[in-house]
Amino acid sequence: MTTDVFGIIEEMLADIKSADLSDSDSLEQFRRKYLGTKNQVNVLFKEIRNVPNERKKEFGQQVNSIKLEAELKFNQAKSEIEREESKKAVNDLDMSAPAGNEFVGSRHPVSIVMNRLIEVFERIGFTVAEEREIEDDWHNFSAMNTPEDHPARDMQDTFYLKNSVTNLLRTHTSSVQARVMTTQKPPIRIIAPGRVYRNETISARSHCQFHQIEGLYIDENVSFADMKQTLLYFAKEVYGPQTDIRLRPSYFPFTEPSAEMDVWMGTDTETAKKLTKGTGWLEVLGCGMVDPNVLENCGIDSEKYSGFAFGIGIERSAMQKYDISDIRLLFENDSRFLKQFSSVI
Ligand code: PHE
Repeated sequence: MTTDVFGIIEEMLADIKSADLSDSDSLEQFRRKYLGTKNQVNVLFKEIRNVPNERKKEFGQQVNSIKLEAELKFNQAKSEIEREESKKAVNDLDMSAPAGNEFVGSRHPVSIVMNRLIEVFERIGFTVAEEREIEDDWHNFSAMNTPEDHPARDMQDTFYLKNSVTNLLRTHTSSVQARVMTTQKPPIRIIAPGRVYRNETISARSHCQFHQIEGLYIDENVSFADMKQTLLYFAKEVYGPQTDIRLRPSYFPFTEPSAEMDVWMGTDTETAKKLTKGTGWLEVLGCGMVDPNVLENCGIDSEKYSGFAFGIGIERSAMQKYDISDIRLLFENDSRFLKQFSSVI
C-alpha cells in the first residue's frame, strides 16, 4: 500500500511535468484535476492514515510538492496562453480598416459662426471684450444716446429685473461698448460677442435670446470710408472674395449717420433667391459713425476722436449659412439637430 501511494505520487509528478497545456481546454482540465475543489491531490492526502508513521512526514512533503508543481505548471501555461492570445489579437488587427465613427460631440452652429467672425476681426487688430449680461439702464441705453423718454427704447423690448427699474438683461452688446469707452482711452478697437435678450414673442424668426457681435473702433480721424473698408474686408472674408456690399441709410440712436449693410448674393441660385427674397441683396448688419453724444457720455472728447460701430446678429447668419428655417432649433439642444454639425470645427 505504502509503495503504491508513493508510486502514485511519482506518476502524478510525471503527469504534471509532461502535461501539454497549450490550449485553454487542456488547461481547464488540468486545473480541475490538480487545483479544483475536487482535485486528486486532496484525495491523496486522505491516504496518509495508511502510511507508516516514520514515512508520514515524507509523504506530506511529497503531496505538497505535487500541489506546488501543479500550481507552477498551471500559472506558466496560463500566462503563455494569454501571451499568445494577445499576440494573435494584434496580428488580427486590420490596420487598414476604417475607424469607427464614435460621436465625440460637436460645436453649436452659433459658436461656429461666432468663432469664425471673431477670427476674421482679430486678424485686423480687433480684440475681444466681454462684459456682464445683467446690465444697468445707463450702459445699455442712456450712454448709448437713448435716454429714458427716447422713443427708440421701444425698438428693443426689454426684460427688467424684478423689483428693479434700472437693472435689466442687456438688449444688445452695445453696453460693452459703453463699458470699454468709460474705462479705456482711445485708440479703441474691440469686438463684443455675447448673448442678448429681448422681450419678443418666440417664433420661427425671432427669439427672446440671441447672440450678437458688435464692433467698435475709435481713434483720431476715423472716417466713414474706414468703416466701409473694414466691412468690405469682413464681407469678402466671410462670403467670398468676389463679394460686393451696399450701405443703405438707416437709423440707430447711437450712430450718425447710420446704415445697414447688404451683401450681394445674386439671383442665380435658388438658395440665393430664397435668402434675398428675390432681390439678390442679403441684409447682414447695422452700422454707423459713433454719435458724438455717445463719445461725450462716456468721457471721450468728440472734437478729437471719432469712430464707427457695427452689430451683427449671429443666429441670423447661422440660419443663412446652414439653411436653418426655425431659430428655435438653435436653443432646443436636440442632439439629432446638433449632431449634424459634428464635422464642422
Ligand atoms: N446695437 C444695434 C442692435 O442691437 C446694432 C448696431 C450696433 C447698430 C452698432 C449700429 C452700430 O440692433
